[in-house]
Amino acid sequence: MTHVIVVPPDLPAPHIIKPAADALRHGDLVAFPTETVYGLGANTLDADAVAKIFVAKGRPATDPLIVHVPDIQQVATVADLSDLALTAMVERIAAEFWPGPLTLILPKRDTIPDNVTAGLNSVGVRIPDHPIALSLLKLARVPIAAPSANRFSHPSPTRALHVFDDLKNRIEWLIDGGSTEVGIESTVLDLTQATPTILRPGGTTVESLIALLGDVDYTPRVVADGTASTGPGMLLKHYAPNTPFYLIEGAPQAVIRTTQQAANDRPQQKIGIIAPDFIAKALDEMGLLVLGLGDMPAEIAASLYAAIRDLDRRELDVIIAIHVHGDGVLVAVRDRLYRAAEGNIIPTIS
Ligand code: TXA
Ligand code: MG
Repeated sequence: MTHVIVVPPDLPAPHIIKPAADALRHGDLVAFPTETVYGLGANTLDADAVAKIFVAKGRPATDPLIVHVPDIQQVATVADLSDLALTAMVERIAAEFWPGPLTLILPKRDTIPDNVTAGLNSVGVRIPDHPIALSLLKLARVPIAAPSANRFSHPSPTRALHVFDDLKNRIEWLIDGGSTEVGIESTVLDLTQATPTILRPGGTTVESLIALLGDVDYTPRVVADGTASTGPGMLLKHYAPNTPFYLIEGAPQAVIRTTQQAANDRPQQKIGIIAPDFIAKALDEMGLLVLGLGDMPAEIAASLYAAIRDLDRRELDVIIAIHVHGDGVLVAVRDRLYRAAEGNIIPTIS
């Protein structure tokens, strides 16, 4: 049985959250909203509780979890900050980006169970920017290990219903706090490298990290040839729906022509399309089933996963995503579309 509790995100009354926080502290799994996506939380210090996360999600034990803490003081309870230069860098980053959609990879403390970090000697840490997540952390009085609250390889959940669809009766608690604002996961920044390295682009932009830190390594993912990248959790088949998922990228006119051609080539098939609004409008006029993601980068990020899940429920033969151009949070959107398409790129016709 999954207990669902509904909490208005702007008024997270502690007495409503307290039973879930107590249960989490004592070993239950609690799904909860953050500003990025819903997380599936367990008491970080309880290896048995953490093990239940991997079972509930069907997640391989080789993929480490992010540890959530409510304030900067508590970072030192999970990460080894004995290196003063590292501490100074964490403080500088925290002052600008925490609470917020940024995870720092730091040397771990020995108190963190091995299954949290998949045996690595580093740990991912972040302070989420969401009143419910912060309230849950304070009431539970333990750091919360939480991956995104989806079944392994599905798109991350941005609404409580997505969590329910994937994990009902596999978890004890679900706190429904409405839609998440950012809609895409946190940026993962590795501070154990000589140069800070972005392992996963996300809600904190690459540009803003470079502005603060100067030197930052980031290699954008290009999977047109289907090659996988390295690194834990950087598996290619990620964020994917069940329906075969294709990507079309290029200039607007070429993309529109190619999509129409792709539809003509598949007369017997049911096709669903996701695209930025300005392209969605043109495709809609051609009679295609298309969900518009909005035109502003923040809108596109916030609506992406819900749109993919929406199409995935309609028993289509194919989903086609139109690639997005631009920087800021769209770098992360592009990364997710590449991962979901697993190298299925439809070449544009001119
Ligand atoms: O926004 C988010 O980050 C959400 C919310 C719930 O906080 N969480 C999330 O967790 O997306 P998850 O588990 O789906 O993705 C965590 C990513 C994975 O790619 C994992 O491999 C990486 O962070 N990661 C965690 N610890 C790491 C470590 N010690 N070294 C390298 N990568 C790590
Ligand atoms: Mg995930």
